Amino acid sequence: MQKLLDAGYVTPGQWQEKPDATLNLALTFDGLRALDVPEESLATFPAEFREGMKVRAEVLGDVGLSSPENWDEPWKTRRVHILVMIYGRTADALEERCRTLRQLLQAGVEELAPDQPAESFSIGDGAARREHFGFADGLSNPDVEGVPREAGKDIGNPDHSGRFRKIPLGEFILGYPGEGGDLAPMPLPNLLAHNATYMVFRKLEQNVPAFRDYIKAQADKFARTIPGGLPDDVSAEEFLAAKMMGRWQDGSSLIEYPHRPGKSLANAFAYAGDPAGARCPLGAHVRRTNPRDALGFGGKTMSRHRLIRRGITYGKFLPPGKEDNERRGIIFIAFNSGFDQFEFVQRFWVNFGDDFEQGNDADPIVGVGRRGQMVIPGDEAAGRRPFICFDIPRFVETKGGDYFFVPSLAALRLLASGRVHAS
Ligand code: HEM
Repeated sequence: MQKLLDAGYVTPGQWQEKPDATLNLALTFDGLRALDVPEESLATFPAEFREGMKVRAEVLGDVGLSSPENWDEPWKTRRVHILVMIYGRTADALEERCRTLRQLLQAGVEELAPDQPAESFSIGDGAARREHFGFADGLSNPDVEGVPREAGKDIGNPDHSGRFRKIPLGEFILGYPGEGGDLAPMPLPNLLAHNATYMVFRKLEQNVPAFRDYIKAQADKFARTIPGGLPDDVSAEEFLAAKMMGRWQDGSSLIEYPHRPGKSLANAFAYAGDPAGARCPLGAHVRRTNPRDALGFGGKTMSRHRLIRRGITYGKFLPPGKEDNERRGIIFIAFNSGFDQFEFVQRFWVNFGDDFEQGNDADPIVGVGRRGQMVIPGDEAAGRRPFICFDIPRFVETKGGDYFFVPSLAALRLLASGRVHAS
């Protein structure tokens, strides 16, 4: 670690000019122990982090094909100590940084599944990054106090008047007040925890043929609920897929564009004006992972469950109409100031639907459950009848992951010095 720091490779949080390659370090609980962090300090880390993702499998819904005994290596049999994440603006910049690192680091460093390279891709006009089911991704992230807002992309939490306000830094970074004005619990010593964050890393495999086949099989039945038919330029398949995701594949919101894609990546929409889900179904993926103002109470019931997402796809995009045996999915990466934030979203919003009047119906895109279902509410104004998607298979399986601690640069130097004391 000292070598990485000395070489100046670890990238600080802010920069004037975007570097060609960036590098971030994250450690598991076992990684901290391997660095000789004393037990008095280790005991002050949150229980979810100490246990790790494998132990949390039942809680997260990682059962059946998603259970840890079916995960990929190295997640399946061991516990990763340290994750070195390198990002490059171009393939050459990435390769160059990897090459110098391979020389710098000794044996014992493993590259994760080089046969399934992680890379972002776009389709068609390339206006936005896509994920393997074909949807624009990386559009919505929290608008955080003290961080310049990425216009059109970042969205805060709603207040009583329905306006969006910035989210306190403490929801994501340790050592600052969060929603409610309090600090998230911090491990000791303070120098180790201050300015750190916790990272969720999940390898989520997407079964693209299963997703496309399901949509295709349901599309005709769904089309029959629309008496006047669909506009000529919209197919029943794309409409149904959009209803499950909550956005059209081009990224435009169903709230703003309920009848056809709008070629807009705008993110400042709200759900309170669509209480029954006539536009965006109550159980759609984006509505349940960030309900915005949908749950009322001035945002109080959702404001502590926001996640900063920085995921990336792996594997090659499967063109429509094609079949293959390649593996593909998302490396889901999310930051929060306590794993209870992520676990709440995963357990009570993704895998369970009660908060959205969906009973125990899970998220149609990523939820658990062998044969799920989803209600697509009707639209009285447009004359469209409700439709129920029955027997939704599980399209996404977990193939690995863990919970990580991401220290500040000062804390990395402390860790590298080997002189961590709990008090
Ligand atoms: C393979 C699995 C997944 C796929 C294909 C997927 C896909 C998407 C897409 C296409 C969007 C809309 C674009 C955007 O807002 O950036 C989105 C948004 C989002 N997803 Fe997922 N997602 C996956 C897993 C998850 C999981 C496991 C969680 C959390 C437990 C999650 C949380 C979110 C959140 C918080 C948003 C932003 C919603 C908003 O602010 O409006 N996603 N996802």
